[in-house]
Parts: sequence; C-alpha cells; structure tokens
Amino acid sequence: MSALEKIDINNTPEHIAIIMDGNGRWAKQQGEDRLFGHNIGVESVREVLKGAQQANVKYLTLYAFSTENWNRPKEEVEGLMNLLVHTISNEVEELNKNNVCISTIGNLDGLPGDCKAEMQNAYEQTKKNTGVQLILALNYSAKWELMNAVKSIANKVKENSLTINEITEQVFADELTTKNIPDPELLIRTSGEHRVSNFLLWQIAYSEFYFTEILWPDFKRDNLYEAILDYQSRERRFGMVSEQIEKTS
Ligand code: FPP
Repeated sequence: MSALEKIDINNTPEHIAIIMDGNGRWAKQQGEDRLFGHNIGVESVREVLKGAQQANVKYLTLYAFSTENWNRPKEEVEGLMNLLVHTISNEVEELNKNNVCISTIGNLDGLPGDCKAEMQNAYEQTKKNTGVQLILALNYSAKWELMNAVKSIANKVKENSLTINEITEQVFADELTTKNIPDPELLIRTSGEHRVSNFLLWQIAYSEFYFTEILWPDFKRDNLYEAILDYQSRERRFGMVSEQIEKTS
C-alpha cells in the first residue's frame, strides 16, 4: 500500500504550511553553491504541490522568502529573486492547466519591481481557478503582519468606525494577510530545525507541528504523505479532554 493510499482522504488537513529549509546545506553536501540548492528546491515545490492536489489539500502556504532573508549575501538574494521570477513566469501556464490559484502574503511593496509584477500577473491569471491555492510567503514576517493589524485597528478606533469592545478574534484575523484563508492545521519544517522563524504566528495557534530531518531538496511527494499520515495519527483536542472529542466526532 502506498503512503497516499494509507491517507484518510476525508480527513486531510485543509491547509498545510511549510517552512522549506535546508537548501544551502544540501548544496554544500553536493559540493555546489547555495543557489544550486534553491534551484533543486523548486523541484520539491512542484512535487509537494502535486502531492497536495492528490491528497485533497486545499491551501498550501510556502515560506519562500522571509524579511530576515534580506540579510543574506547580495548574490544569494538576487539569485533567489531571479529564481522566483523565472519559475513563476515559466510555470503559470502549467499552474492554470492544473486549476491552481497562486497568491502571495507578505510585504510585496518591498520586493524588486519585476518580482512584484510577476506575482501580481500570476495572481491575475490564476485567480478564477478552483483547485489548490498555492500561497507564497514573500518578504513575509509575522511580526510585521501583526503590527500592521494593530495599527489598522487602532486607526479604526481613532476614526470611530470601530469600538474597543467590537475587537474580536475575527476582527483581528481579518486584518491579517491571510484574511479568508483558514488557519493551517499542519505546519511542516524540513532540515531538522525546530523553530517557527517569524512565520504565521497568529495562524498557527492550534496547528500540529511536523519536523523532519530531510533537507528541502530531498523532500518529495511521499514525504508530504508521511507528514499527513503522522498528522492523522494525532488527536487534536483544542484544549478539551479526549472524552469530549469522542462525543463530538
Ligand atoms: C531555505 O533553505 C530556503 C529558502 C530561504 C528559500 C526557499 C526557496 C525555494 C525553494 C524556491 C522557491 C520557489 C518557488 C517557486 C516557491 P536555506 O537556504 O535556509 O538552507 P540552509 O538552512 O541549509 O542554509
């Protein structure tokens, strides 16, 4: 029985978020430069997207470039931006054929002009698709996102369009870049690191975490299925006790 066949297709996470890590170390192991690792990492993105489609996952959020990544050597940052622009422009037709809708979260205004334009173009071309929603976190920082939400709400209170008592979790969530996207049930991080690295801090409040030693360029479809199977073996209690879960299921 393949890993996919073992998955309970009616109980797959609706939203999986992934911190793709280990491209640099993988490249070093091969005696190559870091950009080679990122290039091969794109193959894993394709694999995981196809895997998500087959496993009935609706939203896939990938941490492609964090605000902190600007601190990397200039050649690596430029190489990553070029890779993103070329990959998206080459793949948009294929994404369309596969009914994939692509969008971004993060501070797009801080991206190079061609990268921002390519992302907007890909969004426009795929926005009517009804299959997997591929969400790329680009120039993303959860603290930035949370600060923006606070500022926007403070402004609304100042302008009397919102009262303090009207600030609910939903009102707050609607100020985030993930508005209208359900929270991820599963967060995966590759390469043996056990950090959240400023990713979706609000949205992962109840997410299950799955850490694997596998470096991102080696992470393939079956590895995604293994993560989903691991998730399905867990009991999600949301602060309740087991007996309460049994009654509601
Ligand atoms: C982490 O590995 C990886 C990144 C910061 C970039 C990930 C980007 C890609 C795989 C390309 C994405 C392309 C699309 C189309 C989404 P690392 O460089 O931190 O590795 P290390 O920890 O081993 O140094």
